[in-house]
Amino acid sequence: MIVVEGQQFHLTNSRISYIFTIMKNGQLGHLYYGKALRTGRDYSHLEDYESVRPNTTHVFQGDPGFTLETVKQEFPVYGKGDFREPALLMEAEDQEVIGDFLYAGHEIQEGTPRSEYLPCTSVKEEAEAETLIVTMQDKRRNVKLRLFYTIFEELDVLTRKVQIVNEGESLVDVQRMMSLSMDLPDDDYEMVHLSGAWARERHIVTRPLAPGIQGISSRRGSSSHQHNPFMALKRPHTTEHHGEVIGVNFVYSGNFLTQAEVDHYGGVRVSMGIHPERFSWRLNPGESLEAPEAVLTYSDQGMNGLSQSMHQLIHKHIIPERWRKRKRPVLINNWEATYFDFDEDRLISFAKEAKNVGVDLFVLDDGWFGRRNDDKTSLGDWFANEYKLPNGMGGLATCIKAEGLEFGLWFEPEMVSPDSELMKKHPEWVVGKEVGHRTLGRNQYVLDFANPEVVDYLFERMASIIDETDLHYIKWDMNRNITEPYSQYLHRQGEFFHRYMLGVYDLYNRLTSKYPDVLFESCAGGGGRFDLGMMHYAPQAWASDNTDAVERLKIQYGTSLAYPLSSIGSHVSAIPNHQTMRETPLSFRAGVAYFGTFGYELDPGSLTEEEKAELTEQIATYKRIQPLIRQGSFYRLASPFDSDRTAWMIYDGKVGEGVIGWYKALASPNPPGTQHIRLAGLETGSLYEVNGEEYYGDELMQVGLNTGVEFNGANHEHMERSGDEQYRLYFIKRVARERGSL
Ligand code: GLA
Repeated sequence: MIVVEGQQFHLTNSRISYIFTIMKNGQLGHLYYGKALRTGRDYSHLEDYESVRPNTTHVFQGDPGFTLETVKQEFPVYGKGDFREPALLMEAEDQEVIGDFLYAGHEIQEGTPRSEYLPCTSVKEEAEAETLIVTMQDKRRNVKLRLFYTIFEELDVLTRKVQIVNEGESLVDVQRMMSLSMDLPDDDYEMVHLSGAWARERHIVTRPLAPGIQGISSRRGSSSHQHNPFMALKRPHTTEHHGEVIGVNFVYSGNFLTQAEVDHYGGVRVSMGIHPERFSWRLNPGESLEAPEAVLTYSDQGMNGLSQSMHQLIHKHIIPERWRKRKRPVLINNWEATYFDFDEDRLISFAKEAKNVGVDLFVLDDGWFGRRNDDKTSLGDWFANEYKLPNGMGGLATCIKAEGLEFGLWFEPEMVSPDSELMKKHPEWVVGKEVGHRTLGRNQYVLDFANPEVVDYLFERMASIIDETDLHYIKWDMNRNITEPYSQYLHRQGEFFHRYMLGVYDLYNRLTSKYPDVLFESCAGGGGRFDLGMMHYAPQAWASDNTDAVERLKIQYGTSLAYPLSSIGSHVSAIPNHQTMRETPLSFRAGVAYFGTFGYELDPGSLTEEEKAELTEQIATYKRIQPLIRQGSFYRLASPFDSDRTAWMIYDGKVGEGVIGWYKALASPNPPGTQHIRLAGLETGSLYEVNGEEYYGDELMQVGLNTGVEFNGANHEHMERSGDEQYRLYFIKRVARERGSL
């Protein structure tokens, strides 16, 4: 519901409220964001205009209390007396800063705003969301800002973005354009973010806020392994299940900036947008520019509450509608099994074995094209490697399908090898001005996706392979970051990074529109582009090149803070693990991989008959869990960042079913006695059956599920519970419903 009363705008859905006002200078001032407040009230007492501060600038003669340096703003503009980080910096042709944006009107629309060329949230029914668009105008230059605020009816989520429209007669240059800026009145928060590196993506980092700017960002041309765009601000005492937390995320996959600035009066400015470094955008008269959408969530139910809102948003409003209800295939990928060393015969026998154990889809990874036998050659030459695949892609696809499997392929469309036919033919398609002055990454260069001809070429190549193979799945990889950011096609290089992303989205858009049944999995050297922009096209993403199950506990647990299990590509791989050399039991590897989009990354032909039978059982177990992953709510119960024990659960209250995963990475000597994990999300008075035993919901949530005694040492009858890398699955089913419960 969006209520406009006097000068105030109140967006609420009875659980959250976002309130702002038109200030006395005509700009927008922020009043409140948090748990719902009632409508029909005047909240002008939340304005803080009257505290006179020495040594500040002020807007009106004789009114020193009204200073932009201290008021909470909605979309602060550079150069007008607010010395905190601005949301907008824009210059006119004569280089004067354009900054007098005053309220000029508003409208309210049902649904979410559409975007022509950017990924964004969407609704099935218009009534699921409502959007307020406030227009701000600089009359002298005749430039308008359209600020979009969308509130979802059933979710504790708001989204924001801005569009800049040049209605004047001369050009303007945009140098900084945040999608979201929000001023919080106090700084009693801890900042939580997901940071790491290749093979250890999205580890949870928590730190108290301190005066000054703290943030995360990427200037790599992708959202990055190092920092995910997601950030949360939680109260220091907020836990997984209790307390207040605000989260932000970005529907974008390129350079970003997410930050919290604690000012000198203890307020916090939260900003999120495209990273301003090497960003500038010229708007000629009549042109407009749209910022990517930013997502804002609030929960008073702790980090879990926040995560669940994010998960639902992604599931219901970000991933392609077609994939919301559809079962995802259990896949097998040949990468770690064969690397570049395969031919048609080897792949067919690999597929046969995979089919025998019950896999649905076979994915042929890197090495099937050009002359590619290692990572030094042929990216860009998207034609079958004739030596390995003499019957072409069509021939191979026919054989794989004849085995009863679906067929998927790896592509890395954005890249070119210096040693490739494409590079010889189109040196002008490569990012970076001059040959000899380009930095290599995994022996490859980046193609200039800001150039529409490049996108056309990739579309033609990929479409032709999809047609030839009648493909079911594509793994779209991106294995290096962008250096020497320079497009030989563009005239204004400040536009390069963003236009590059628009080219990537254009290709995704064209492929997913023409081939809506092809399932895309995004990947960037593992989880280097795990973001909401990608999820708009590719509902799942390869979470990490690290397939070690112990490491995956942290990666998947961290990822779940912002992203649903249905987006987390998680596979069982061979031992010793290729990233850590660790040897974990096959069952433990599956136990971790079940909580994601399950698959394999090993050669089934190399397994013993017992192991093959175990794979078949694992697939059956996963298929039992799969509907819960799609429809249930996920609860983190014990963190691998706190101890060697991890626990999590999925529960679908509608059907009264769930599953709990409990893991012990390392055994500890002489451990405590009987252990319990406290479950979450159940109905207190309902009766549940867990692995054959009955308990009431309150017992399971207050006392916890008895996970037994951990023993150490040999010759014990409970030997199976001792040692490292143990795991248990507990299936939970509601057997009697509490009277009066939902
Ligand atoms: C990246 C991916 C891997 C694999 C290789 C192929 O590293 O993350 O899964 O596809 O590329 O070169």
